[in-house]
Amino acid sequence: MKYIGNKTRLLPFLDEVLAHEEIPLGGRALDPFSGTAAVARHLKSKGFRVVAGDLQAYAYVQGVAHVALNRYPDFAALGCPGRGAMGLRQALALLDALPGEDGFFYASYAPGGSGGARQYFSDANARKIDAVRAHLTLWRAEGRLTDDGYHLLLACLIDAADFVANMSGTYGAFLKIWRCMALKPLTLKPIRVLPSRLPHRAVQSDANRLVRQEECDLLYLDPPYTGRQYASNFHVLETLALGDRPPLRGKTGLRPTAGQFSAFSRARQAPAAMQDLLAASRARHILLSYNDEGLIPHEQLMAMLGALGRLRVYEHDYRRFRTERDHARRRYTRPDDRVVERIYAVRR
Ligand SMILES: C[S@@+](CC[C@H](N)C(=O)[O-])C[C@H]1O[C@@H](n2cnc3c(N)ncnc32)[C@H](O)[C@@H]1O
Repeated sequence: MKYIGNKTRLLPFLDEVLAHEEIPLGGRALDPFSGTAAVARHLKSKGFRVVAGDLQAYAYVQGVAHVALNRYPDFAALGCPGRGAMGLRQALALLDALPGEDGFFYASYAPGGSGGARQYFSDANARKIDAVRAHLTLWRAEGRLTDDGYHLLLACLIDAADFVANMSGTYGAFLKIWRCMALKPLTLKPIRVLPSRLPHRAVQSDANRLVRQEECDLLYLDPPYTGRQYASNFHVLETLALGDRPPLRGKTGLRPTAGQFSAFSRARQAPAAMQDLLAASRARHILLSYNDEGLIPHEQLMAMLGALGRLRVYEHDYRRFRTERDHARRRYTRPDDRVVERIYAVRR
């Protein structure tokens, strides 16, 4: 998934910090801002017992697929006899072969629909998304898909839809001109389930609440840094994950976002939200990812984190996540398109 703040490319940096801080692998790790689940999955692969949480439903679906599942679900009830990854490929082939349907995505997010000619997806891809989404709901209701199977296939659909979406990084706007990838046919690709013997979990929750509920040895924090709310920038994926038919408004077709606006994306609320979250955690190790353009100034973070225990700060020069909107509207302090990504490491 293309995602603001995705840390896939920073995983080697995270590994360096884990090693330098001598954080023992294999404890309980909590990632309450898990997004694409890239970090949570990585921590799982390193032997941690992981809980991945996020406010958004699409992130929960990714968390189930990448973290909570320890083996491939069985798709025999769909007539797919294969075991493991083979069963998943067979189930995806069934879905890939479905003829398109006129449903909510076609009506709302494609030029042929009635939604004011929004063009997040080509007509053919939107109709394909509708067909696949409808079958997932139907098969689950008929008991032909387990919850695990449903979420794994749904995560594959979210990835595939995101791959052909006609936008430049977020769903805050669609492109007026079709980008090349958006005109290619949507193809479902299998997600590789990471095997493990440990009980991992995914939850949809507010981070400050989750931190109070889940004890952990390592708390990895990757909150939003900027004023861009994920609920409005990834609203199309949220609708796909929920499979509902919300009233949409405006040119971009925004769904209602009540309850999903994050205090971490509001300049005036972010410091207090961070302070509250830190005060609630009893983790021995806290790692916070934040960059030098975030809403909470470096000095303020240093004061908050330094009060908890021994604090070290690691820095990494990083190419920023860019979107078309950034080019048009934004002015960055660094003309060279680079930001300093930091990991603040606290040991109590
Ligand atoms: C910087 S992204 C995390 C990216 C993630 N580490 C990755 O590699 O994909 C921040 C995430 O925090 C989530 N979020 C924002 N406010 C939240 C809150 N109060 N509680 C839980 N999740 C929140 C957003 O939905 C978003 O997925």
